[in-house]
Amino acid sequence: MKRIGLLTSGGDCQALNAAMRGVVKTLINSGEDVEIYGFLEGYKGLIYGNFRMLTSADFSGILTKGGTILGSSRTPFKTITDPDENGLDKVDAMQQNYHKLRLDCLVILGGNGTHKTANLLREKGLNIVTLPKTIDNDLWGTDMTFGFQSAVDIATECIDCIHTTAASHGRVFIVEVMGHKVGWLTLNAGMAGGADIILIPEIPYDIDKIVKAIDKRHERGAKFTILAVAEGAISKEDAKLSKKEYKKKQEKSKYPSVSYEIAAQILEKTGQEVRVTVPGHTQRGGSPCPYDRVFASRLGAEAGHLILKGEYGFMVGYRNREIVKVPLEDVAGKLKMVAPDAAIIKEAKMLGISFGD
Ligand code: F6P
Repeated sequence: MKRIGLLTSGGDCQALNAAMRGVVKTLINSGEDVEIYGFLEGYKGLIYGNFRMLTSADFSGILTKGGTILGSSRTPFKTITDPDENGLDKVDAMQQNYHKLRLDCLVILGGNGTHKTANLLREKGLNIVTLPKTIDNDLWGTDMTFGFQSAVDIATECIDCIHTTAASHGRVFIVEVMGHKVGWLTLNAGMAGGADIILIPEIPYDIDKIVKAIDKRHERGAKFTILAVAEGAISKEDAKLSKKEYKKKQEKSKYPSVSYEIAAQILEKTGQEVRVTVPGHTQRGGSPCPYDRVFASRLGAEAGHLILKGEYGFMVGYRNREIVKVPLEDVAGKLKMVAPDAAIIKEAKMLGISFGD
């Protein structure tokens, strides 16, 4: 008999359900007796003992379903060791609930913050297996996270739609893509959508270089320009500020996001009309794309396999086209960023894409 806890934490993404289905199907198909405890709304469910007993029926028909059947929430790692408003020790509460239910293992699906807490629980002696979810694809230790490809599809579709209207109106268009810290999504959707300028957090931009790239297109006869801008795109000047100074500057800014600031600067410097489109959370929504369905199912199956072997303390990841197990202590606290000198950046530049640098 295996008693397994499941939880999904942090921002949701596509294929969370597909991944959980993969874990549970693998366990059930092995012939092992399993009891599944689904903790509701991420770590909150584990802290306050909110769970649902789940059966195989709960995992039927969810392969294609977006969101998470367990619900999710953000429980920041930064404050995880602080007592809650009633003085409850959250880490202690999670351990107690784990032991009270006599769980053999907790399967945690999440991104960066989630992995830090998962590793903390591992250090406290809990058996943990994790799965890498996030549309940002920024988890260290895996070449790919599930949710990413589905989000690339949606952001690309958005740029595609903008393309036709940009061509009709001869305007400059900015599509703001999710990603505060890393630019994988913007880079991939930008290239797939044929964006002319791509701005990502890892490559600070110079507004004059952006204007130059727009002017160059005009000189060549192009009537419109499309920029794919990551939420976390940052100017060279701002990149020199400390984190605190930058945060202060952002709080005082009259613009809702960096894209609007860039739009105003382009208008001022070129006199051209600029429109901003923010697909926002649509990028995390809807049905997972076929790639993510397969990928998340494979990761889930391998997680189930690890549990059956009693191997804990790992994230199931993907490296060099193989599913691998990565020690949680290696994953926690590290970001996988786009290297400014990566081959894909060089190739994009060869194609004439400007990064504003
Ligand atoms: O981490 C996933 C992500 O979608 C980021 O790309 C984005 O910046 C952030 O979450 C948005 O967070 P929230 O859903 O809490 O607004």
